Amino acid sequence: MISSEAAPFAKTGGLADVVGALPAALQALGEEVAVVIPRYGSIDLKNARRVWENLAIHLGPASFPITIYQAPAEFPVYLVDCPPLFDRKGFYGDSAMDFPDNHLRFAVFARAALAVARLLFRTEIFHCHDWQSGLVPAYLRTTFASDPTYLGCRTLFTIHNLGYQGLFPKAALEEIALPPEAVYRPEIMEFFGRISYIKAGIALADALNTVSPTYAREIQTPEYGFGLDGALRARAKDLTGILNGVDYLEWNPEIDPLIPARYSAENLEPKEICKRRLLEEFGLPPEAAERPLLGIVSRFTRQKGTDILAEAIADIIAEDCYLVALGTGDAEYEEFFRRMQRDFPGRVAVRIGFDNALAHRIEAGADIFLMPSHYEPCGLNQIYSLKYGTVPVVRATGGLDDTIEEGTGFKFADYSGRALFEAVRTAINAFADRDGWRQMMRRGMRKDFSWKTSASAYSELYRRLLGR
Ligand code: ADP
Ligand code: GLC
Repeated sequence: MISSEAAPFAKTGGLADVVGALPAALQALGEEVAVVIPRYGSIDLKNARRVWENLAIHLGPASFPITIYQAPAEFPVYLVDCPPLFDRKGFYGDSAMDFPDNHLRFAVFARAALAVARLLFRTEIFHCHDWQSGLVPAYLRTTFASDPTYLGCRTLFTIHNLGYQGLFPKAALEEIALPPEAVYRPEIMEFFGRISYIKAGIALADALNTVSPTYAREIQTPEYGFGLDGALRARAKDLTGILNGVDYLEWNPEIDPLIPARYSAENLEPKEICKRRLLEEFGLPPEAAERPLLGIVSRFTRQKGTDILAEAIADIIAEDCYLVALGTGDAEYEEFFRRMQRDFPGRVAVRIGFDNALAHRIEAGADIFLMPSHYEPCGLNQIYSLKYGTVPVVRATGGLDDTIEEGTGFKFADYSGRALFEAVRTAINAFADRDGWRQMMRRGMRKDFSWKTSASAYSELYRRLLGR
């Protein structure tokens, strides 16, 4: 697996959770899996083993010296170390902008991953994730097309988020040493006069999938296709949706060491302790314990529905409820959350930042989890919420639609503040019926979204690709 993130080594979102957990689930089914990620500045090499030194990645006239480390994990995790490219603060950029050499960073990364397959881990399937690994199929189809090392290898490209595409000027092709006549074509990498790494993956991988059945259909429409719906429709017969699983060793209120009290569907009382502590931690008044507490853990981007939340928040708060939110992301959306906190003091409390333990405490302490996403390829937090008895209110899109049903949560269809508010109001009314609410919590807590089923689906797909 070739990915720009894998928990616990490097995480900004759900991609890391998936690549951190799916390999172990595949191993349990008898597959052999290794993961390749960049060695960012934040990854400590103290416990890592150096497994290959002085590897030179040649891109045209340029050469990049690489060291490969192996990190301690349940499965081999190879770290591509190239300090001038990756030893920085941030994975893709700083708060102001993307790094200007991302085209080069993820070209060298793709080539290094291919070198890992040549030198360290015999590979039949290159399972690539998102645009950062989109060049792997491109190099395999061009530079290495007749290289015996990769003979018979197959590629799978998984789209976790079509909104991030890896777009660069055409001139970058020379630096990344891809032949323009082969790839700078509308049916391959060309995208409105630029080159697109995600489009390389879409056009050139042997098979494609995305992370829920509904998102697999949605991305083939202009509304959700980000300009790539045509490219995706052209590959419709090779495109499937495989719902993400979740790691219940990490996200489970019965054993979670990061929450103040452990609880289960049979013993819900301790969840009250989690709620009271969370209110204290966020400086909300003790009387809030009697009222519904809404929770949000999210990247603060347009994808996540911040604009309709802005429209609805005054009405929501007027229902006599409280909101805690944790997130980080675009400056304008961070500012929006800060403003909500100022506008509704004692009602809305916000933490800007990335804090895994706090994410767990919110899952455990809130009553209702909000995900009003504009689009959502899968979404993991709503699935964690089910397990924590924190009833999700979600927009019926992508994986949110596939995982939440009547009886475990509340869904709304229209992308509007009004529709969001109506769904929240329905949830708040339901909260008043304590027995009914507890039943709803329990139904969610008993749902099983563990990796087993999804890992089998990936395993079958690998086998089909290899013609077995
Ligand atoms: P996405 O990948 O689009 O961000 P997901 O719901 O699939 O959405 O996954 C988000 C993951 O990132 C979850 O594990 C969530 O807990 C975590 N996460 C998001 N923002 C934060 C944050 N500010 N602090 C801690 N964890 C976060
Ligand atoms: C992306 C999507 C999210 C999905 C995650 C893992 O970041 O936004 O919906 O759950 O990838 O596949």
